[in-house]
Amino acid sequence: MILPHYFEDPSVLHLNTTPHHAYFIPHQRLETTEEREASDYFTSLNGDWDFHYYPSYHDLPEDFLKQSFSQQIPVPSNWQNHGFDQHHYTNINYPFPFDPPFVPNQTPCGLYHRHFEWSPQREQRYLLNFEGVDACIYLYINEQFVGYSQVSHATAEFDITDYVHHGQNSLHAVVLKWCDGSYLEDQDKFRMSGIFRDVYLLSRQANYLQDFFIRYTLNETLDETTISLETTFIHESRALDIQLLSPQNVEIFRQQAVNLEEKIANVQLWQAENPLLYTLILRDNDEVIVQKIGFRKIEVKEGVLLLNGQPIKFKGVNRHDSDPKTGYTISYAQALTDLKLMKQHNINAIRTAHYPNAPWFSELCDKLGFYLINESDVESHGASMLTVRQPEPSILLNHENDLETARIRQETIDNFCYFARDPQFKQAILDRQKANIERDKNRTSVLIWSLGNESGYGENFEAAAAWIKARDPSRLLHYESAIYQHSQHKNDLQHLDFYSEMYGSPQDIERYCQQPQSKPFLLCEYSHAMGNSNGDAEDYWQAFHHSPLACGGFVWEWCDHAPYRENGQFGYGGDFGDSPNDGNFCMDGLVSPDRIPHSNLRELKNVNRPVRARYQDGKIILTNYFDFSNLNTLSIYYQWLENGMPMQSGKLKVNCPAQAEVQLPIILPENNGSHWLLNLSYQQNEETALLPAGHELGFDQLNIYPQNVFKIAPLASIRTQFKIEESAQFIKIDNQEWRYHFDKQKGIFSKIEKAGKAQIEQPLDFQIWRSPTDNDRLIRHTWQNAGYDNAYTRAYQTTINHLSQAVEIRVKSAILSVARGRILNFDLCYTLLANGQLSIQIQADRPAHLPFLPRFGLRCYLPKNLGEVEYFGYGEDESYIDKHHLAKLGIYRTDAIKNHTDYVKPQENGSHWGCYYVKSDALMAWASAPFSFNLSPYTAEMLTEKTHCYDLESSGHTILSLDYKMSGIGSNSCGPNLAEQYRLNESSFEITFYLRFSQT
Ligand code: GAL
Ligand code: MG
Repeated sequence: MILPHYFEDPSVLHLNTTPHHAYFIPHQRLETTEEREASDYFTSLNGDWDFHYYPSYHDLPEDFLKQSFSQQIPVPSNWQNHGFDQHHYTNINYPFPFDPPFVPNQTPCGLYHRHFEWSPQREQRYLLNFEGVDACIYLYINEQFVGYSQVSHATAEFDITDYVHHGQNSLHAVVLKWCDGSYLEDQDKFRMSGIFRDVYLLSRQANYLQDFFIRYTLNETLDETTISLETTFIHESRALDIQLLSPQNVEIFRQQAVNLEEKIANVQLWQAENPLLYTLILRDNDEVIVQKIGFRKIEVKEGVLLLNGQPIKFKGVNRHDSDPKTGYTISYAQALTDLKLMKQHNINAIRTAHYPNAPWFSELCDKLGFYLINESDVESHGASMLTVRQPEPSILLNHENDLETARIRQETIDNFCYFARDPQFKQAILDRQKANIERDKNRTSVLIWSLGNESGYGENFEAAAAWIKARDPSRLLHYESAIYQHSQHKNDLQHLDFYSEMYGSPQDIERYCQQPQSKPFLLCEYSHAMGNSNGDAEDYWQAFHHSPLACGGFVWEWCDHAPYRENGQFGYGGDFGDSPNDGNFCMDGLVSPDRIPHSNLRELKNVNRPVRARYQDGKIILTNYFDFSNLNTLSIYYQWLENGMPMQSGKLKVNCPAQAEVQLPIILPENNGSHWLLNLSYQQNEETALLPAGHELGFDQLNIYPQNVFKIAPLASIRTQFKIEESAQFIKIDNQEWRYHFDKQKGIFSKIEKAGKAQIEQPLDFQIWRSPTDNDRLIRHTWQNAGYDNAYTRAYQTTINHLSQAVEIRVKSAILSVARGRILNFDLCYTLLANGQLSIQIQADRPAHLPFLPRFGLRCYLPKNLGEVEYFGYGEDESYIDKHHLAKLGIYRTDAIKNHTDYVKPQENGSHWGCYYVKSDALMAWASAPFSFNLSPYTAEMLTEKTHCYDLESSGHTILSLDYKMSGIGSNSCGPNLAEQYRLNESSFEITFYLRFSQT
């Protein structure tokens, strides 16, 4: 072994690096300060570097510094994205044995090399910066060892002045995939390696300014502040030339000072809706350093979170650095794409899950207006897996009592707290806090520090919390795992400012907030966005708005993680031969890996619209949900719909301060018995940094006369002249035009033909199964156990009546499954009219003990080339009983292909809730009550069977599903059970479907 053994030694974290300090770039000229690459003191070393990959660091040859290279790799990048090593997705499980501080002998290793030209000047220092290397780096300049560093998401800055010479210099870096620090980097992600963030050299003067910390305190009325500056020079400190400009670029002061202390009057406050920044300019001989600074006050008063004295709510998301092509390497442009999408979708806060992003990321958030929870690079939940659980015994043999469950739970928590309490890792945990806090301490957007994620609690975090509060008392401190208590430790929570949970239910929020509390309730993760998800977003926001002690939450998570496979498609855990893996648990984002918003994001957007309208006592009332802005920044477009048809429209303006209400000046239509809807669209008047003028921030739709139901006009009935033939198994009913075959064993139509042309391509059967969504991943076992995936229809009794204007078939039937009892009992009445209209009256009841149904309705196999249908329902996005805030009731057109949402792991999708009718040339369908419908090239069974969307093959039909009810979506993949009110759980129900075939 030729490398010094620092990578398995938690007492050696950094060797010959500068201390963690604020991120800033010195420039020679003020004019270049907008862009770091433009600085005369900044030299990027990004580019193609020589590279050699070794499956084990033991393979590194002794003379590796003399090695020649045949391959190259871009810096920054992850080597797994360039054909080296393999992709591996794991969530909780460590990808190696739990044996701290040791990592496997088979730990892969990358040897990097490049040359750079340099002409060192006397009296200058040269600082080589690596902004992110996973997992640790040994640095050599001109074949001399310079230093070592770990902590993947922290800057390692080496002073290489004494190693560089005039002319060509060589740089070698040895990077290991794992080190002792990897035990603290068990984040739920694809595990990638290498130099993944920028590398650059900074030229500094001999006694350079290494660090500074801007502090200020605002007065009670928030209009005056005293600003101070703490500076650290590499040698003795000296006076700086300090200038402050207002957000409008007016000089406020300029002075020479060693210790600045200056009062500022008429302060213009910063907040995310209007991120006003002052400019602090520090001049030190030939260096100019520009630091933007916003003034704002974050505090908790009587349990309520206040920003600038105003209660605010975090409409937040958890964001990883992740891209299908570039992995952890995220450029400025990629980050901007994310921030723009977030602004477009009413997101105002980001938790940097679960490590700090690149140092310029928080700077962007200062400028563009986002609130940040800056999280330290700590996560060690893999330790909880030390608890060996017995495989589940069969229910009848299970003598486990609650005491045993409690014991296992406590043992798991104790293991979970391993690193939180192990004295060997105390320094490492503190170091990771310092890396985060010191680097970003001058960032306005950072309102909250977070100690990390899911690493248990204990002495090491208590010490870290105490250090943070002493270093930066101006911000709040968050850590969710403090709710876990080791059996041998009493948690000290004095430095934590939030009661933080993940994945609690809306009821949990209300429960906490009902009692007086000193800390706000924060959901640092909620509404798990996996697959077709976020059905509970509205209910969470009802609870947040309802409870002043709740300060909002952060949806898990912003983007799906999935690298491209060899076939050019997205791959998830297990697609790369990786083990252990967590399957598609990495596909849980509001946007796809390549940033296409899912319907999840659109649902969240409208739930988080800044204005909400309600109809009350004949008036339309608007509530302003901005935290700071007046509604006069918006135009409100309205449109009346009578029976779905567009009527009068116009534009309105209102004046309404933040968090207040106003009446909308609009005249209501007279109640003429029609179905009247009012659509309101809220659009921004002026262009802002990320959004154009006219951007729609959200919409509302009000049903003004809810008692007026929309009705389809009945067909005039005509006399029937059907010929009826009945056998033991079939009933055949026909006239010159129409021919029906009724299957008496099943109690359904097996054939419907008009003029010899099939109207349905398979029997017209009932359907209870849906392809489980990711949120059904738990309930699906219960469903399957109840036989729902394997059910069929049978009839017991069929009677036929030929009436003067109709043929009526009455059926007693049921849905059954092998080895199980009856799932549904039916009393059916089919009515056939002479003109091709069929109605199916269904009266159903179901045994009370059975689990709720995925759905219930009819399934029609229509021709593949059906083409477009028109529907009056919630569209045009997919919509469900609990996920319809993204959709409006209206008249839309779609076809089977357009209507299918291609989740990478196929699942139920594309349903439309609250429909009045759906029609095409082939068929018109409606029901006695609003129903859900779906149009798809695939059957539920096909979607269930396939694990990747690119393996789906069309059924050869257009599958039309007409559902009495489709159970809701929720977010149970990692969250509460689907709420009762969204389940198809009624013990009896009734509906009549009407089908009119062959409309042409
Ligand atoms: C949480 C964890 C996240 C993520 C999520 C599941 O417990 O904090 O990092 O793993 O579960 O997607
Ligand atoms: Mg070490």
